[in-house]
Amino acid sequence: MVNLRIMNRPGESIADRFGWLTELRDAGLIRHLGISNVSPAHLDEAQAIAPVVCVQNSYSIDTHREDDKFLGLCGERGIAFVPFFAIAGSQREGGPATDHTAAIEALAAAHDATPAQIRLAWTLHQGPHVLAIPGTGNLTHLAQNIATAALHLTPEELATLN
Ligand SMILES: NC(=O)c1ccc[n+]([C@@H]2O[C@H](COP(=O)([O-])OP(=O)(O)OC[C@H]3O[C@@H](n4cnc5c(N)ncnc54)[C@H](OP(=O)(O)O)[C@@H]3O)[C@@H](O)[C@H]2O)c1
Repeated sequence: MVNLRIMNRPGESIADRFGWLTELRDAGLIRHLGISNVSPAHLDEAQAIAPVVCVQNSYSIDTHREDDKFLGLCGERGIAFVPFFAIAGSQREGGPATDHTAAIEALAAAHDATPAQIRLAWTLHQGPHVLAIPGTGNLTHLAQNIATAALHLTPEELATLN
């Protein structure tokens, strides 16, 4: 699987570059294609050229919630939405757009979990097509991140994070 990753140029066409990747796919060198740092218009453009299996954008509890509709659109089209910075969130994006620290800590205490696990659990609750790709160099964190798959949040709990 290969993502075409572009660098935050919203109005830019990706047709040429996605077309070149499609040639590699047609030659059997790539099995699946995805796109990253993109808008719904980019997805339309890419899907007119070849199947797209995933969209990878920055998305977390406290950043980039303008992608809420895009996330839903991906689900409607059977495309995986793969958020990066699900844990780091606003720390990687230059400060919080909204501050959910207190709500995250309350849920972490209620579930005997860590704030990072609550962030990942929230991510996985955004839809069956939403995946998690947390980055870690710490084995304890890795085990905690895997365990998050079993952390269930109720609709009422999720509402405290919106
Ligand atoms: N497509 C793109 O443009 C793009 C851009 C950026 C990133 N990415 C990809 O997205 C993935 C995630 O990116 P990321 O790693 O920068 O962001 P992230 O997963 O949101 O955050 C990683 C940070 O969270 C910490 N962390 C991870 N698990 C934790 C846990 N259980 N408890 C506490 N802290 C924890 C890590 O530190 P420790 O190492 O100490 O655990 C690290 O500092 C990576 O695969 C990356 O390559 C893609």
